[in-house]
Amino acid sequence: MVDWVDVGAADDLAKAGVSRCVTPKARLAVSFRDGTFGAIASACNHAGGPLRQGHLDGERVVCPWHQWRFHRCNGHGATAEQGNVQSYPVKVEDGRVLVDVGTATSRVGSKRAPHPLARPVERAPGPLRLAGISTTAMDPDNRRFSGSDHLLGIALDSARSAGAETQMIRLDDLKFHACRGYYSKAAGACTWPCSITQMHADDELTPVYEALVYWADAIVVATLIRWGAASWLYFKMAERLNCIQNAITTKNKVLIKNKVAGFIIVGGQDNIQSVAGQMICFFAELGFLFPQFPYIAHSRGWSHEDMENNVEHVRTSPEIAEGARELAERCLAYAQQLLDSEGTPDSIARGGRKANH
Ligand code: FES
Repeated sequence: MVDWVDVGAADDLAKAGVSRCVTPKARLAVSFRDGTFGAIASACNHAGGPLRQGHLDGERVVCPWHQWRFHRCNGHGATAEQGNVQSYPVKVEDGRVLVDVGTATSRVGSKRAPHPLARPVERAPGPLRLAGISTTAMDPDNRRFSGSDHLLGIALDSARSAGAETQMIRLDDLKFHACRGYYSKAAGACTWPCSITQMHADDELTPVYEALVYWADAIVVATLIRWGAASWLYFKMAERLNCIQNAITTKNKVLIKNKVAGFIIVGGQDNIQSVAGQMICFFAELGFLFPQFPYIAHSRGWSHEDMENNVEHVRTSPEIAEGARELAERCLAYAQQLLDSEGTPDSIARGGRKANH
């Protein structure tokens, strides 16, 4: 039924490329270009982003979240997979812009196939599985010994000897994009699967998501220490894992359940407790659980930054190697306990937790 609604003065709306107009019946993205007004629904077909806060690129309104584009007058997406958003008749009378919010075209949802990472989270049957994540960066043509990788290798060998399946993921071998901070636009803009994974076919962080969310029962993350902090590759990965935590914040959807994390931290100087604390805090917010003594570490301290001796000690120390073996054993033993139990509940009270609303 026709229902013309006054959305504002034509002179004012003509000044902005795209204006936000909220009526009792619809949220609109009203636009003006070349003497013509257009009105389309504000909710983007991708993840509900606010087209009313977008900008114009030619005749299209560009979504501010991930840049899907819709024709500002007929609502057609720039590609078939983007579908159409509703469009509304517009007229100008007596200097006022009127939109008929009762006569919208139909929304045609996105025809894009769901990303493979959007499938239900179910543990595939099989033996215990341990994923090692190396965050060491080095010159690929001149590889050097890495103490943290060395210990991670020992941990994985130990897990295989105990009958577990293992995989080693070297972040340095993966070409993955840095986080673009979509969360800073709006919580809903940081999606699961990661917006960047969905937008960039060349992004190679998928093996990490697959291992953390689907494949592994336990993970061991190994890092060096640089200036008192974990590896830059660790942080590059961690920022991209925000989407896992954000699924809890925005949808109360816990993707990581009944999984165990342990850590190997090797530094020339110190700050082990700070690095371990930060890593444990982050992986706890993703949903991981921890065995007793969840990390092993080594450092020669502030006044012993003699890397040759430090590296040699890590390479030859039977005690540290045994520590790596037992860390893997602890992680797998706890993972087995979780598999044998009812595990963590599906829903956990939000009060007092990160970003509870
Ligand atoms: S492009 Fe609009 S919500 Fe992602």
